[in-house]
Amino acid sequence: MASIAGEGWLEVGRVGRARRGDGALRVTLHGDDPANLVSAGRVSLRGKPGEIAFRVVEARALEPARDGRGQVELRLEGLDSQERAEAWGGASLAIPEASLRALPEGEYYWRQIIGLPVHVPDGRRLGTVAEIWPTEGHDLLVVRGGGEPLMIPAVDEILTHVDLDAGRLWIDPPAGLVPDGALGPAGPRIDVLTIFPELLQGFLEGSLLGRARRSGLLDIRLTDVRDFASGRHRSVDDAPYGGGDGMVLACEPVVAALESVAAAGATLLALSPRGRLLDQAWAEELLSAPQIVLLCGRYAGFDQRILEETGARELSIGDYVLAGGEAAALVVIEAVTRLIPGVLGNPVSPEKDSFSDGLLEFPLYTRPRVFRGREVPEVLLSGDHAAITRYRRREALRLTRRRRPELLENTHLTEEDDEILREIRDDTDRRTDS
Ligand code: ADE
Repeated sequence: MASIAGEGWLEVGRVGRARRGDGALRVTLHGDDPANLVSAGRVSLRGKPGEIAFRVVEARALEPARDGRGQVELRLEGLDSQERAEAWGGASLAIPEASLRALPEGEYYWRQIIGLPVHVPDGRRLGTVAEIWPTEGHDLLVVRGGGEPLMIPAVDEILTHVDLDAGRLWIDPPAGLVPDGALGPAGPRIDVLTIFPELLQGFLEGSLLGRARRSGLLDIRLTDVRDFASGRHRSVDDAPYGGGDGMVLACEPVVAALESVAAAGATLLALSPRGRLLDQAWAEELLSAPQIVLLCGRYAGFDQRILEETGARELSIGDYVLAGGEAAALVVIEAVTRLIPGVLGNPVSPEKDSFSDGLLEFPLYTRPRVFRGREVPEVLLSGDHAAITRYRRREALRLTRRRRPELLENTHLTEEDDEILREIRDDTDRRTDS
């Protein structure tokens, strides 16, 4: 027996009764397949006596329960009497993740699916998978959005695409399965708190962002912090204690504005040149937040207690100082919303972007074939897709090496990439030598 830290374990079921005599435990699985538990070797129980890992002495698959869930009988080392085993009734049971067998293509573990957002073909989001119920013929995804949970059959005609890389599911529900009112925006709801809402209005109403908002794909709202200021002058700032230049955004109106819009689980971000630098990985992470609240600074900055009280994290868009956070908020909004397929009319899959694979993007060309004597590289006209892919990879590596060599340190490079980089290096050396 050993106490476990809980990491690297996957909860797969719940302990029921203990058998008289030898204390064998009956476990009801969350899913239908007992194979992983039967072959696990070790399990961890979390229940009234605490959290303890046991060696499995014997594991036997039983008939599935009436609702389709798998059942397994387990004898565990050290739990050799009914009395000892019974103390674990109702405990949750986990197995080491390392013992999971690889699944054939097109099959997934429930834990890979639970928590993922579910989208319909026009991009709108139904909610996230809260649970999975096995039934005789197929599993049912229990999807929770704003209202009543919906049951979505996990069959190929309805569950059309599982995109684990992007962390989302696509369904094509037949008429009547999903009420229109159940569909929400395609990405997180975004609230911007500012004392200059008019600075953002035009940008958010214009072209593709505006269209996506009007069609319900995006839910972006502006809140004027001044509406939360009291006093005749509705003042939102004050002089800094201890002296110094500029004014400081005051606690009362900012915190009141923030509390009026932020739901539980919202990601709160204060735009500030002091913050962590926004990068592509962070933008991708923000995409799965249910709500993002962007707090725009002005003047000298925020009263520190705003950050402490609300837990807002500071975010910077670059090592330079803007007059306020509004332009930075727009940068965050565009970096996040363009990752939602269809929202900014961007047909390019975001995986092909600069940065998403850690490299700068290769050069692009369109017609005419010759512009003022400058020709499009021959290979792009060849129709040889493998050669084009190689050429583009080479150019991406060349550009990244020249402009942002530090990016190569944190990028997964294949052996072929290393070979290309060696060639590029030799090539450059030869040219500088001559
Ligand atoms: N406000 C002022 N400068 C900023 C920056 N670089 N990033 C985010 N917010 C800011």
